[in-house]
Amino acid sequence: MHTITVRPESTEDVRAIDVVHISAFGGEAEARLISALRASSSYNRELSLVAELNGRIVGHVLLTRVPLRRNGTEKNVLALGPMSVVPSQSHRGIGSELINASVNLAREKGYGTIIVVGYPEYYKRFGFRSAKELKVTCNLPAPEDALTAMEIVEGNLATAG
Ligand SMILES: CC(C)(COP(=O)(O)OP(=O)(O)OC[C@H]1O[C@@H](n2cnc3c(N)ncnc32)[C@H](O)[C@@H]1OP(=O)(O)O)[C@@H](O)C(=O)NCCC(=O)NCCS
Repeated sequence: MHTITVRPESTEDVRAIDVVHISAFGGEAEARLISALRASSSYNRELSLVAELNGRIVGHVLLTRVPLRRNGTEKNVLALGPMSVVPSQSHRGIGSELINASVNLAREKGYGTIIVVGYPEYYKRFGFRSAKELKVTCNLPAPEDALTAMEIVEGNLATAG
């Protein structure tokens, strides 16, 4: 029986995390994005989670603090992604474990909302809802439908910052 462990990344994990994203996405764009985010002030190592299987990193998700502006006020929410699981271990629930751990971590750290740009059908099963429905937009060049959000604290998006 193989056990998946989800834990915050450590400084030694950087290369292994790159390998996960390069193999899952089939290119370096996401690994480069993560490098850029690591150098930014929104980066917090505690919000970067790895999934380990038998001591090997097989999945990763990054959560980054982003400002959400509404009605003239601003608050911090978390953006989820990039996220990936190595192809040899996909369809075994590791992605689901990373998302559930992300939601728990966000709650623990006091965030009220998580947003994500990705396959909406994948994220909706975890309780993410269409951002359009929640009246949330983002400044990334992504299709409107790809943006979904989850209120960890009910009504969080409607309250001031
Ligand atoms: C998407 C991804 C993270 C899912 O990880 P995973 O460990 O396979 O996820 P789980 O095992 O928890 O869930 C698998 C289910 O997710 C769903 N799923 C996977 N990819 C999907 C996609 N592109 N669109 C919609 N649903 C998807 C399927 O319903 C799948 O169910 P199945 O196993 O019965 O076929 C992984 O496949 C991956 O790294 N893909 C390439 C990188 C990527 O696209 N990342 C961004 C995600 S927005």
